[in-house]
Amino acid sequence: MCGIIGYTGQLESITILLEGLKALEYRGYDSAGISFFHNNQIQTVKTTGKVSELERNVIETHRQDLSSTCGIGHTRWATHGGVTDINSHPHTFGNVTLIHNGIIENYHQIELEFATMGKYPRSQTDSEIAAMLIDHLYQGNPTEAIKKAVKRLEGSYAFCILFHDQPDVIYSIRLGSPLVACHNSQGSFIASDLVALLPYSKDYFVLPEYHIAKLTKSEIIVTDFDGTIISPKMLHVNWDIRSAQKNGYPHFMLKEIYEQPTSLHSTLIPRLNQDFLPDLTMDHIPNRIFDSINRIIIVACGTAMHAGLVGKILMERLLRIPVTVELASEFRYQDPILCDNSLVITISQSGETADTLAALRLAKEKSSTTLSIVNVKGSSIARESDYVLYTHAGPEIAVASTKAYTAQLACLYLLTYHFALYKERVTIKECQEAMKNFSAILPAIQKTLELENEIKEISQNIIKTKDVFFIGRGLDYALSCEGSLKLKEISYIHSEAYAAGELKHGTLSLITDGVPVIALATQSHVYPKMISNIREVRARGARIIIISNGDFPMENSIYDYRISLPMVDDFLAPFTAAVTLQLLAYYTSLYLGIDMDQPRNLAKSVTVE
Ligand code: M6R
Repeated sequence: MCGIIGYTGQLESITILLEGLKALEYRGYDSAGISFFHNNQIQTVKTTGKVSELERNVIETHRQDLSSTCGIGHTRWATHGGVTDINSHPHTFGNVTLIHNGIIENYHQIELEFATMGKYPRSQTDSEIAAMLIDHLYQGNPTEAIKKAVKRLEGSYAFCILFHDQPDVIYSIRLGSPLVACHNSQGSFIASDLVALLPYSKDYFVLPEYHIAKLTKSEIIVTDFDGTIISPKMLHVNWDIRSAQKNGYPHFMLKEIYEQPTSLHSTLIPRLNQDFLPDLTMDHIPNRIFDSINRIIIVACGTAMHAGLVGKILMERLLRIPVTVELASEFRYQDPILCDNSLVITISQSGETADTLAALRLAKEKSSTTLSIVNVKGSSIARESDYVLYTHAGPEIAVASTKAYTAQLACLYLLTYHFALYKERVTIKECQEAMKNFSAILPAIQKTLELENEIKEISQNIIKTKDVFFIGRGLDYALSCEGSLKLKEISYIHSEAYAAGELKHGTLSLITDGVPVIALATQSHVYPKMISNIREVRARGARIIIISNGDFPMENSIYDYRISLPMVDDFLAPFTAAVTLQLLAYYTSLYLGIDMDQPRNLAKSVTVE
């Protein structure tokens, strides 16, 4: 989605803006632009295409003089209006230059009013209307104009605004879309995403919704709508700036796949106590919340929802409590049955996914206990949930989620065992045994990464195909859903995941000579069933790629390729299988010449509906 960066201070702002936009590129965008004060005048450069294109334009346009110490920058992901230079941000009308993330839902109505007045040209975008509205209401007091304007706006927004007669000052406000800010001896910074602030500070605050931030070179003042100055809660992140850089890897996705032994170490090890039992003390999750829970609803989108599918199987098996997994975009409009004995678990890497956030708010309205599993500290979902389990996976830059997914799984395992121990569904000894097995997953993942060459060969083998099918049972079906999503989102090859037992109810008709079927066979209790399903597709000519947990004996006539993963407890096979499927998707995309870090039409963080 769109990215925002703003800076005012002692340093050269144009460089900071361009570097900030580069750091935000991973979010997905189609055009970029900056505005900055130069000799008290606002200059704007914007273009469709990449930030590198914008940088070239900036150098060409301002070759002589690049000096500025205050400006705002934006990467746009088109929602209203085509991908054109004009529709790129910043937008300037009258006294106002503005950048916007989010969607203004009632913009058309406001546009009609302006059309009647004949004051402004017709517009294609909601963001232009916001700029017009603020300019229209501006009578020398920026805060008043902003307050009046946002009272008229419906939808979500994060704005950074320059007023032409207020040099070197940036005004910001947000509702529904994220903005984080920090001030240090170099000046004041604001961005839609922490990643853009990392080079300058690890201490930051989230701008509270419906509050106005005034950024000057010497301070950031945050006021509520009554004009009262508030001190937002400062947060600290221990993300290393290098964790947001490629560090010698050709792509962020590959780097993030390879980081998993380390990222899982951060998720897991600090949460095991000296007796090798799960310990959620650092997360401040009190045991009493489990006392009355008789139903769990997991709500999320995309990969995070697939982590929920794994969580459901674990929780139901161990806790014997009914668990449903819901797509947030559906859940929020289904009038779900929730009550105060329901625990709603939202899962989100970014913590800003609009549908998941809306689902969380709905759950809270209906008095359910809410717990979120989130990667980004201080994000909206984390802040609004009753309880948070941070995944501690470090920044995830590639659009395709990898290390965040396995960290989400790890949190679900920890939570399930913690809950099960408290409810005496498992004994201390069983839990210790499970946690020992769990920590052995780190070397097992390392070994899985060593299977890279075998996986590359399979990728080579599927690049020419139009369709790929993933099949599995139980946890393997949950993994198939994720494997299929990963492959299609970055290789653009059509793929489907099926519960292996469902094949004969329709899917078998799609299996013809040479169609690749990736069969996950890691669950011993359904292993014979799975082998029968593999035979069914084999008999229809499918090219079979089997992924098994260890070296189960199996006739080699039933497969073309086989990946034998390091043997782990069945319950933990999703970790090693996930890494394999991530590598498979990565290399398939690589061999097809696709930019897997930023696949077409997709954004890292989906902050609009
Ligand atoms: O930030 P979130 O975890 O809430 O994002 C949810 C999905 O948009 C995300 O997992 C998406 O499906 C990934 N790009 C898949 O790799």
